Amino acid sequence: MIARIAALAALFLLTTLPAAAEQIGARAKGGFAESFFMEKVPRAEARATAEKLAKGVIAARMIIFAYAGKFVDPALGDKGFSGEVFENQWRSAVESDLIDATPSQKRLFEKLFWAGRQVIDNNQERLNTKGVGWKNFLPAKWEREMGQVFAARTGIVIKQPGRAYRSPMNVPDDTERNALEHYVKAGHAENKPLTSYAKWGKQDVYRHMEPIRLIPACLGCHGKPKGEPDMLGFEKDGLEAGDIIGVMSVTIGVSD
Ligand code: HEC
Repeated sequence: MIARIAALAALFLLTTLPAAAEQIGARAKGGFAESFFMEKVPRAEARATAEKLAKGVIAARMIIFAYAGKFVDPALGDKGFSGEVFENQWRSAVESDLIDATPSQKRLFEKLFWAGRQVIDNNQERLNTKGVGWKNFLPAKWEREMGQVFAARTGIVIKQPGRAYRSPMNVPDDTERNALEHYVKAGHAENKPLTSYAKWGKQDVYRHMEPIRLIPACLGCHGKPKGEPDMLGFEKDGLEAGDIIGVMSVTIGVSD
């Protein structure tokens, strides 16, 4: 009798207790950032393509950064930084790097320029708002939005996972976290890209990661003192010029 009551009590507890394992609002396990690569590159071209794309995106970030002072000037309306102006500057910045580009790399860069320009066009109202200083536009935001547009058109994933990310879009996956840890441990002299082949579902992919390092102009937000709010209220990272803040991560589908 007692055993039966105990068994019933146990059953009751089992059926009424919440399933402890389920964490509501957690990231679903498994899966991949992209499942359909419309653009694929031959295996022999994967390394050079990823390197070129990463370099091209870094060049664009520098162009946008050079306008940062203008962007935050509340007295200025039109910043003269249309998608067309940006695209022209970007094309000349990467011209020498594309001299030896293969036809498929050239085609990808056309789509990259297009994606980058879309984002600048899309942000015109924001950028040209008068009377507001901080308009929430940064190279990192451009890259996040450009990555979405570029991935939508090609499948290629370009992102910039952060050491202590500010945008939840920049959460690193396991490979990216390992790369971040590697570069943090290795110190300033280690800039060699970390590359690997992987399978995303049935798709072979080539993954390229290289460090994004801080320059003095970044330190107002990512510098010292650690934990103090930056101008946007995020806690400062406590880092110095030369330290790694994130990785440029490029994942390409391989065609063979
Ligand atoms: C005005 C403050 C500010 C400055 C200056 C600044 N950042 Fe950031 N950084 C941010 C914010 C805010 C984000 C999140 C952007 C987003 O995706 O909307 C960010 C995101 C990033 C990310 C992506 C990871 C993440 O945290 O989400 C990298 C990498 C990064 N910044 C590097 C740099 C570098 C390199 C510089 C200097 C060239 C720089 N930042 C200058 C505020 C700043």
